[in-house]
Formats: sequence, structure tokens, C-alpha cells
Amino acid sequence: MEEISFAVVGSGFMGGVLARVGYELPYARCVAAMDVDFGRAENLVELFGGRAYGNIEDMLNQENPDTVIIATPESEHREAVIAASQKGSHILVEKPFATTLEDADAMIRASDENGVMLMVGHILRFEVNYAMIQAAVVDGRIGRFLSAYARRITPINEAFRLEGRVSPITYIAVHDIDQFLWYHPEVVKSVYARGIKGRVWEQFGTYDCAWITMEYEDGSLGIHEVGWCLPEQWAGWQRPPSWGGFGDVQMNVIGTEGVLNLNFTPMGLYGLDQEGWKLPDTRHWPTMNDKLVGAAKLEMEHFFECVLEGKEPLVTGVDGRRSIEIMIAAENSISQDRVIDLTL
Ligand SMILES: NC(=O)c1ccc[n+]([C@@H]2O[C@H](COP(=O)([O-])OP(=O)(O)OC[C@H]3O[C@@H](n4cnc5c(N)ncnc54)[C@H](O)[C@@H]3O)[C@@H](O)[C@H]2O)c1
Repeated sequence: MEEISFAVVGSGFMGGVLARVGYELPYARCVAAMDVDFGRAENLVELFGGRAYGNIEDMLNQENPDTVIIATPESEHREAVIAASQKGSHILVEKPFATTLEDADAMIRASDENGVMLMVGHILRFEVNYAMIQAAVVDGRIGRFLSAYARRITPINEAFRLEGRVSPITYIAVHDIDQFLWYHPEVVKSVYARGIKGRVWEQFGTYDCAWITMEYEDGSLGIHEVGWCLPEQWAGWQRPPSWGGFGDVQMNVIGTEGVLNLNFTPMGLYGLDQEGWKLPDTRHWPTMNDKLVGAAKLEMEHFFECVLEGKEPLVTGVDGRRSIEIMIAAENSISQDRVIDLTL
């Protein structure tokens, strides 16, 4: 297989996950990591190879990578996507695509004008169970789509790690919003959401959890319960390290002729030892034989395959924009205390 080079922009948690996947693929090579915190870029290249940079223009000019993986904070994707587009690198940018529609439009424009591929990292599209739900819905197995309900609640540690940088709607709910739109890609006419205040609100002024209802023009609904309010003990396990925890996750889809039901609490496997009950992540980025597997790997493989074969990715910039339109409407519904009419 042809070799492909990649550089990582944003060398934090998710940049590290994706860099590791790339490093472990035999045909991919990490040529650089960049971060405004230079020490983080240094840490990443020490593990996965390449050179560290504190400036993106320098990195792109020096390394000319085939692809750039962008894992900067949610509101900081635009500059990196435009810079990489202008240098002709193909791009995988993390979810949420952006935090404003203006940023999303600017990134789509830049990738189109420069003829580069732009994929948004909606990882659940690369998780087998979610993909099977989507396949069944679009195959018509459950008849006409009536409603989908998703729950995604993480341990509170995630909120403490991000220190109020974004709300759980922008950080977490956008995953399941993208799923709803993937299953039922019709026009959404309105969004109504309520935010709930707890320990995270007291410390950082961002909501602990939220309920979001999006109504399609055909009357069907997507309902999402999201949050980062599970107690620390939910995923506080240390051993073995590959038993890292995740959260409380479900998806139920109802149609006129059937139902589909996913329950990831637990994700098939659970255990009990001296540390207590354990519900490890077996789906997103578990490790096996010292390699990272699961949806993160399938996502990166898909990205590289699309670049090498000149194919359109499963999640385009336009898909990413659709999801953030609902995400932003949910944020606005809470802050403005009203239903957001998207038809206006
Ligand atoms: N797909 C998933 O399941 C998943 C999981 C976690 C995070 N994410 C997403 O990944 C992105 C990164 O999140 P994270 O949790 O890794 O954050 P993080 O804070 O761990 O890492 C972000 C890194 O970007 C650096 N940075 C900030 N501004 C920068 C800039 N302008 N240029 C270069 N570097 C910059 C920071 O110094 C930090 O090292 C976000 O969009 C987030 O929502 C996705």
C-alpha cells in the first residue's frame, strides 16, 4: 500500500488518540505535531515520531504533509483547516465541526476552493452497532422513522478536565445529533432544549446535563439526554489500564414497523474486582495486543482510504455543518428559553 504522511494539530487528548492510531497503521507516518503549547507537541512526537512545532504555518511549510489531523478545541478548528487547505493537505477535523456556522462555511469554502478532502470526525459512524442501526433504518426495516431517543452521559471528570470550555451539548450531544441526522436525513424544523444545573454549573458555569428535542418537518422526533454528571467512581478504575471507563449510553429508534435498541451500559463486558464494578469501553478506543482498536481506528482507516483512493468520506463538511446547526439551536434554546424555529 502507498505510504501516507500525517501531521497532528492540537496535541491533547484526542490528538493523542488519533496520532497513536496513525502511528500503528503500517502505511501511515507521523511527520509532525503542532500545538500552541509546544511541550505537548514534543510529547506527542516523542511517542509517535516526526518533528514538534509551535506554529502551524512553519509546520505546513517545512513538512508538506499529505494529511492533517486537527484536534484543537471546539472553537479553534477554522484557522487550522484553512491553513491546511491552502497548502493542499487533506483534512480530518474533530467534531464538533465548529461552534459557529460562519466558521463551518469558511472551512467548507476553503477545502472546496483548494480541492482538498475534508472529513469531520464523527466517530460513532465508525462504530459497528451504530452503523448497523443506520443500515437497518435506511433499508426500511422498521418502516417509517417515528422517533429516536439517545442517552449519552459521561463521568463528571470529563467536565472537570475541560474546565468549562464548552457545554455538554457542544462537546457530547453533537455525536448523537449526527446519528439522528444520519438515520433520518430530513429537514429539522425546530429545536427545544433545557439545561440542568448541578456540580459542574457551580464550579464552571456550564450545564451538567440537558434534554434536547428536535422535531423534523414530517413530525418525527429526535430526543437526546446528554450530560457529564456521572460520579467520578463510574470510571475511576486504574487496572488493567485497558479497562478505561466510558459512560451511560443508549440509542433506541422506533419506526412504524419495528424498533432498534442499543444499550452500551455496559458495552457487552462488565466485571467486579477490588476496585468495584467496572464497565470498560470496548467500542471506541480500547486496546488489544498493545494497539488501539475500535471505532477510532476504523475512522482513521476510512480517512486514509478516502484520501488514497480519491473517494468522498462518510462524514463531509456539509454533514458536520448540519449537526452543528442543531447543536447551536439547542444552545440558543436554553439561553433564550424558547423553541428555536429553524424554518425562519
Ligand atoms: N471523537 C471523540 O470522541 C472526541 C473525544 C474527545 C474530544 N473530541 C474533540 O477533539 C477536539 C480536541 O479535544 P480534546 O479533548 O483533545 O482537547 P484537549 O484540550 O485535550 O487538547 C486540545 C489541544 O489543542 C491545543 N490548542 C489549543 N488551541 C490551539 C491552536 N489554535 N492551535 C494548535 N493547538 C491548539 C491545546 O494546547 C491542547 O493541547 C475537540 O473538538 C473535541 O470536541 C472528540
